[in-house]
Amino acid sequence: MTLPAVDLSVRLGRLALPNPILVASGTFGYAREMKGFVDLARLGGVIPKTITARPRGGNAPWRTIETAAGMLNSIGLDNDGIEAFVAHHLPYLGGIGAPLIVSIAGHDYDEFVAMCRRLDGLPGIAALELNISCPNVSGGVDFGVDPAMCEKVVAGARRACSLPIIAKLTPNVADIASIARAAEAAGADAVSAINTCLGMAVNWRKRRPLLGNIMGGLSGPAIKPIALRAVYQIARAVRTPVIGIGGIATIDDVMEFLVAGATAIQLGTVNFYQPTASITILDQLPAAIADLGARSAMEVVGTLDTKNTPPAHCPAGAATANTCKP
Ligand SMILES: Cc1cc2nc3c(=O)[nH]c(=O)nc-3n(C[C@H](O)[C@H](O)[C@H](O)COP(=O)(O)O)c2cc1C
Repeated sequence: MTLPAVDLSVRLGRLALPNPILVASGTFGYAREMKGFVDLARLGGVIPKTITARPRGGNAPWRTIETAAGMLNSIGLDNDGIEAFVAHHLPYLGGIGAPLIVSIAGHDYDEFVAMCRRLDGLPGIAALELNISCPNVSGGVDFGVDPAMCEKVVAGARRACSLPIIAKLTPNVADIASIARAAEAAGADAVSAINTCLGMAVNWRKRRPLLGNIMGGLSGPAIKPIALRAVYQIARAVRTPVIGIGGIATIDDVMEFLVAGATAIQLGTVNFYQPTASITILDQLPAAIADLGARSAMEVVGTLDTKNTPPAHCPAGAATANTCKP
């Protein structure tokens, strides 16, 4: 059976991407590590591990713990710093054939702005993602929990460089829509949501926390409903495009996020246990979009019908599992 042609391209403010399947920061290394599994050039975008102004050793071990349907991490932004990134990783990343979105975290406003200036104009970078949402470092996360600070740092980043700016939001707030509104007011091209949910794990026999940093970020399928809710709330609150992240592992997950209001998505934890997931999903995407009677990814975005839930034709219990077909 031949499928009708489906246009997978998406637009997020000034950023045009060939398709909506991106890979999330901290879960795909610097892409080199994944090239044996994934045809990198096919991806909608690659976001390498967040870089900081100076090298960081990260947090004390343990740094990762498996949980029910997910994992906790407290890596602590372990990276070699922006200059090592520019010298050693950017030349490779700039040539992989997929749009490169560089994730940065400043310790304070001035550091964010200085990093934007440093990266502006360097070849191979399609956009910057401001990591204002890492739960594992002190300092930078403040920008993601306070609307005024979020607005200030996004506006500063926009002034400091000509690249499209994405603000990555934390779910660890009472009202994520208010942070998204602040990012929009400052001119963000897109917001991405969510970073990890703050959590912890305990060995009760030793009366010790399992993570060296005591608390860490929960990710994976366990957080998908939280992420979906966040994307839905943000998409209703702002016109700025949303990139959905959180527990996405299958084509059904991707379609749920698009329908709920995401213009693109990022795959995170799934890359660890199913490193080929991005390509599998990409191969399935045209048929899933066509299934909705659409000819493009953009047509599907934000088409959730909240007036008619669950759909009348679904037998009881089927409406939540994507098993319900008319
Ligand atoms: C081990 C690990 C490291 C991460 N490092 C970063 C990072 O450096 N920068 C960042 O913005 N997000 C980082 N994240 C968060 C992911 O990019 C993503 O937002 C989060 O895990 C939720 O998506 P998921 O449930 O699909 O993993 C990390 C996540 C994990 C599991």
